[in-house]
Amino acid sequence: MFSQRIKALGDLVSANNKVIDIGTDHAYLPIYLVLKRGFKEAFASDVSQKVLVQVETNIAKYKLKDKIHVYLSDGFKDLKESYDTAVIAGMGAETIKKIVTDATLPFEIIIGSNNHLEVIRETFMKLGYKIIKEVVIYEDGKYYDLIKYQKGSEYLSIEDIKYGKHHHKKYLQDILTKQKMIYQQSKDAKLLEEIHSLEKFIEKIPD
Ligand SMILES: C[S@@+](CC[C@H](N)C(=O)[O-])C[C@H]1O[C@@H](n2cnc3c(N)ncnc32)[C@H](O)[C@@H]1O
Repeated sequence: MFSQRIKALGDLVSANNKVIDIGTDHAYLPIYLVLKRGFKEAFASDVSQKVLVQVETNIAKYKLKDKIHVYLSDGFKDLKESYDTAVIAGMGAETIKKIVTDATLPFEIIIGSNNHLEVIRETFMKLGYKIIKEVVIYEDGKYYDLIKYQKGSEYLSIEDIKYGKHHHKKYLQDILTKQKMIYQQSKDAKLLEEIHSLEKFIEKIPD
């Protein structure tokens, strides 16, 4: 019942941390942590009251009402407690950036952005977080780039920000193929520049 993406996100959380899943939707992530990773409890929040009705139903279905605690909150704004880890996944980079900007953030943050990984990498570097692990998974015809952050400073080059610190060749080749397809339609000169620089970058990555 757990997707590869949910499992990969859950496996990035440091063992037995106090975790909140921001924008939980179906609550599969906290359910995974309790059922499959043996967390004693987990916390889930969402900005939508309607979503939380479904969350409560799912939690009841797995008999986890006493282990998963649910809150209505816009990002971190309405949360009363502090946490060791926050998971923020399945949202666009700009929404994630909005959620973390000017918020009191935990030591560890796991990010699964739907797009613009470069916005995520730059935002978290500026917020004083370093990449502990970056994993790429492929599921249902899509690549997901998931990042585990902890507080700390690190310098990322422009290439690191654009392509990721652990440069995944297959993932980047897929992006290149997509860019080339788009270029066939658009003939956009800026995109062509991007394609050339990505090609050069990929050539340097060992197999
Ligand atoms: C596509 S779902 C992702 C669900 C889950 N996190 C995942 O990765 O599968 C996005 C969820 O984020 C919630 N959301 C959007 N903006 C939010 C915010 N500012 N604060 C909390 N939740 C938010 C939405 O209501 C929705 O339930």
